[in-house]
Amino acid sequence: ALVAVRADKAGDPAVARVLQGLASAHGTPLYVYDQAHIRGQVASLKAAFAPRFPKLRVLYALKANTNPSIIGLLKGEGLGAEVVSLGEIEWALRTGYKGSEIMFTSSSKNPAELRRAIALGAVLNVDSLDELGQVRDEARRQKKQARISFRVNPGVDPHTIHQINTGITESKFGLHLQDGIALRAYEQAKAMPEIRIEGLHCHIGSQITETEGYTLTAKKMLAFVKELKDKLGLRLAFVDLGGGLGIPYKDGQAVMSPEDLARALEPIWKEGVAAAGYEPTLWLEPGRFFVGGSGFVLVRVNTVKQTPVKTFVNVDAGFNTLMRPILYQAYHRVRVLGKSADPVTVDIAGDVCETGDILAEARTLPRAAAGDLLAILDAGAYGFSMASEYNSRPMPAELLVDGNRVRVIRRRGGFGDIFRNTGK
Ligand code: LLP
Repeated sequence: ALVAVRADKAGDPAVARVLQGLASAHGTPLYVYDQAHIRGQVASLKAAFAPRFPKLRVLYALKANTNPSIIGLLKGEGLGAEVVSLGEIEWALRTGYKGSEIMFTSSSKNPAELRRAIALGAVLNVDSLDELGQVRDEARRQKKQARISFRVNPGVDPHTIHQINTGITESKFGLHLQDGIALRAYEQAKAMPEIRIEGLHCHIGSQITETEGYTLTAKKMLAFVKELKDKLGLRLAFVDLGGGLGIPYKDGQAVMSPEDLARALEPIWKEGVAAAGYEPTLWLEPGRFFVGGSGFVLVRVNTVKQTPVKTFVNVDAGFNTLMRPILYQAYHRVRVLGKSADPVTVDIAGDVCETGDILAEARTLPRAAAGDLLAILDAGAYGFSMASEYNSRPMPAELLVDGNRVRVIRRRGGFGDIFRNTGK
């Protein structure tokens, strides 16, 4: 049924019955993920990269979907963990990762985060000279060597949504390759006995659908690998080209496949390592690519309202449940379950008390009525993980579907959750 919904067979009454069953049993809004899809995504990435890059390590960027069952699934596929906070470190540990398998990236880290990451032996992805000093001081206090890489800013525009464009020169992220800034950071770190330099990192953005940003970046990164060896005698264990692989959000949308990307990177990588005279391990750390297309949110129609200018289909979820439309003007396909006739152009409106709370705009869909179910597709990444209890609505439940087996991987939140920690 999940595959049928994605493939636009949502109108099929049999498909609708299955999902009606889930919605009745677990309530709406309801996040539903397809395990087979996630496994398939991992397999396609590995199939494209492993033959071309024998020294390869793939990590999962936990922020895309932090449900421990999903993290556990990706760990089971052999992926490492890329985290950005103490909370994500904790999830990684609770799903069985060792500290040494964790990569901690964020543009700045607070003292508690530095302490924990160093104590665990995680790789810290250092983002500023200020932070390098803090890592050294904390490592000294712990009488440990801190494992680090630097996140560099390659100054490349991957042509994605502005808010998630991270590798451009104006962005807050990374030490710029430009003007020898990153080089001086490595030079300083090399002189610090408390620091063990392991790698080089960049992440140029998210939802990238063309190879060009990656190939430009890879050229700069590999030239820098050579420069580090020639000028500082440094040999890196890894070069991390980040995550960011896009997925199709629209019917028929063409996006770069892992095969396209691997094929485009292969000659640049080979040339680069030949010039540097050694081969670091290639690291990748996607999030969305693995989980984005695996999940949808099921929502129920509260009312349908005709205004003088528009028809609104008002549903029982809003940007508290799925933030991407309001935050990035992101497009998510909507399927009306069990209906295929009588197309009308509607806005799908959320139930949050804000004008901007429109989940989908001007969509031509089969006519829906109160009580009908809609599926909002491709919500597996940055869906639940960015959801909130705004308007005092408890968090939705999450289901993981494995063939015919349905597992509740997070129970629906309740009022106890909303009132927690307030003493009321
Ligand atoms: N590595 C780093 C350092 C990152 O900052 C990110 C995402 C990733 C990996 C994973 O990127 P992905 O493969 O998932 O594109 N909330 C936005 C996306 C923000 C991405 C932030 N960083 C959205 O809903 O589109």
